[in-house]
Amino acid sequence: MANHIAVIPGDGIGREITDAAVKVLKKTADIYHFELTFETKEAGGTAYDQCGVPLPEDTVEAAKQADAVLFGAVGGDKWDHVTPKLRPEQAVLGLRKALGLYVNLRPVSVPAVLSEYSPLKPDIVTGTDILIVRELVGGIYFGDRCESEIHNGVERAWDLENYSVPEVQRITKFAMEAAQKRRGHVTSVDKSNVLATSRLWRRTVIDVAKQYPDIRLDHLYVDNCAMQLALNPKQFDVIVTSNLFGDILSDEAAVLGGSIGMMPSASIGEQTSLYEPIHGSAPDIAGQGIANPCATILSAAMLLRYSLKQDAAAGAIERAVDKALAEGWRTPDLYKDGFKKANTATMTDAVLRHIQ
Ligand code: NAD
Ligand code: IPM
Ligand code: MN
Repeated sequence: MANHIAVIPGDGIGREITDAAVKVLKKTADIYHFELTFETKEAGGTAYDQCGVPLPEDTVEAAKQADAVLFGAVGGDKWDHVTPKLRPEQAVLGLRKALGLYVNLRPVSVPAVLSEYSPLKPDIVTGTDILIVRELVGGIYFGDRCESEIHNGVERAWDLENYSVPEVQRITKFAMEAAQKRRGHVTSVDKSNVLATSRLWRRTVIDVAKQYPDIRLDHLYVDNCAMQLALNPKQFDVIVTSNLFGDILSDEAAVLGGSIGMMPSASIGEQTSLYEPIHGSAPDIAGQGIANPCATILSAAMLLRYSLKQDAAAGAIERAVDKALAEGWRTPDLYKDGFKKANTATMTDAVLRHIQ
């Protein structure tokens, strides 16, 4: 039976990179003898322009019905002045909520071939292999907020962060079980020296960890974690953290591998899972055909592994990306003298040639 994928390209480079990933999925399915069907749906600023909302109901329905969702990116300067509830970013936030995607996995690995691209020294970054487990449907992203009010005669705005014990329990369990399949080490990141939500987070993590005596658990404040990621990234195995801290730390960690254009993610929860690069719509390079498609191609590999249980095909895509890089192909975000200049299409072709 065919597996059905909802493709949501979104805005900016979203279309270019999801096109690339769909080509890779089609070729991989042919070689590994399974059937995929695709359906494209709008979201983000493009959807807002077409129908006045960033997340049309039929996009949500298609995502719920699909076996997996491949998502590009949303947003752009053009929509920066749209009323907050209709901003393009509401599309990805709305999908995460509608699909109950409480886990966001952001793997950060630095193959030797990319270590020279990091602004950090190669010996610091080579061999880094971190899994960031970001809570995705709670915290300050989904708390009450006020865009503007007058308080004591001055204008102010506020965003409320709250976390419940069950929300922290389920993400912690996921992180512990992920660590059991890796190197057995979990670092929980919070700001419990200041924030009440972080204090509840830390004591809940400690409590859940009692069920996992095989896991080495430690805790870092988020400011120190940001520094440790740059000082000694190899100390980390699994990092579990809140929605906001995970967002910020994963962009920082992306630099270890030289470019955010290499960083995939998987969002997992109660229904269909969603796969997307961690980067945005890159308005500065959109439409030029030069975006690095690898983050989305590697997100498609995660889709095959987690949603369709096609481990061999997923591995084939990951190896093909490694081989294309080893052959010297580089999109502008990673290009240096002496390498082969690639754009989105030629980088994708190089990956396609190596799928076997
Ligand atoms: P961004 O990730 O889009 O871009 C940051 C920088 O990285 C830019 O210089 C961009 O050119 C570069 N970059 C990103 N992806 C790349 C790729 N694949 N290849 C080469 N270079 C790449 O972040 P931003 O500029 O802060 O945000 C732009 C828009 O994207 C905003 O509207 C933001 O809200 C949105 N955004 C959306 C998502 C999402 O849909 N999940 C994620 C992040 C940001
Ligand atoms: C990400 C993005 C999103 C987030 C935005 C676009 C809502 O930055 O996926 O990292 O903050 O989660
Ligand atoms: Mn982000």
